Amino acid sequence: MTCEAYPSEAMLAKALARRLIDLVARRPSIVLGLPTGRTPLLLYAELIRVTRETPVDWSQVRTFNLDEFVGLGAGDPGSYATFMRERLFDGIGVTPTQVEFLDGRAADLEGECARYEAALARAGGMDVLILGIGINGHIGFNEPADALVTRTHRATLDDRTRAANALWFGGDVSRVPRAALTMGMATILSARSIVLIATGEAKSDVVREMLDGGVSTRVPASFLQLHPQVTVMLDELVADGLEKCRAISRR
Ligand code: PGA
Repeated sequence: MTCEAYPSEAMLAKALARRLIDLVARRPSIVLGLPTGRTPLLLYAELIRVTRETPVDWSQVRTFNLDEFVGLGAGDPGSYATFMRERLFDGIGVTPTQVEFLDGRAADLEGECARYEAALARAGGMDVLILGIGINGHIGFNEPADALVTRTHRATLDDRTRAANALWFGGDVSRVPRAALTMGMATILSARSIVLIATGEAKSDVVREMLDGGVSTRVPASFLQLHPQVTVMLDELVADGLEKCRAISRR
């Protein structure tokens, strides 16, 4: 894993936005895997800002989101589909035909997960997958457990994850769904390259565990150690707590 530390979250977002836009220019039909949550907000705002200033051709890009709440679908205000439309897709002109989302309201959730895996395979897999990390070490909604599930599946959310998501439900944790559909660990590791972003002091302990601990289902993000092409992008608040992380390159 390559670690890069940036002086601020804003500078990290700018650097990653630049890198993604360069990739899209070189490969217009790139397949992206995308996250929701607080972590990618500045990145998405920066992608919108740059797209307004300099033309970027997003018209052939395909996107797959990591996860969606069970019970919420594209039209629900709390759904991740709505988050993505409002925070990124509308701002850069990516249309619904380019976007794949898990449908948390599907009648047959298992069938929905299988459909998603098939759509991803048909698209040729993800070229670049962007990830955040939960304070409990999850990626997507692969929560710490005795065993992880390989492919896209229904996951029960743990209390810390539901608390972290209350923000999107008016601060009311009781409104946060108890389950979600998520790409599995093998689905995540099938991406050809992965960028994990971690910002804010609260993430420093879990990032240290991810980087310096062994591979453990109790820290699902540690499985990224098994992938040959992972870049971990940190702000100073996370990087400062990581004296032990070798080969950090300061930007
Ligand atoms: P956050 O969530 O970006 O809101 O911190 C990250 C995650 O749970 O993956």
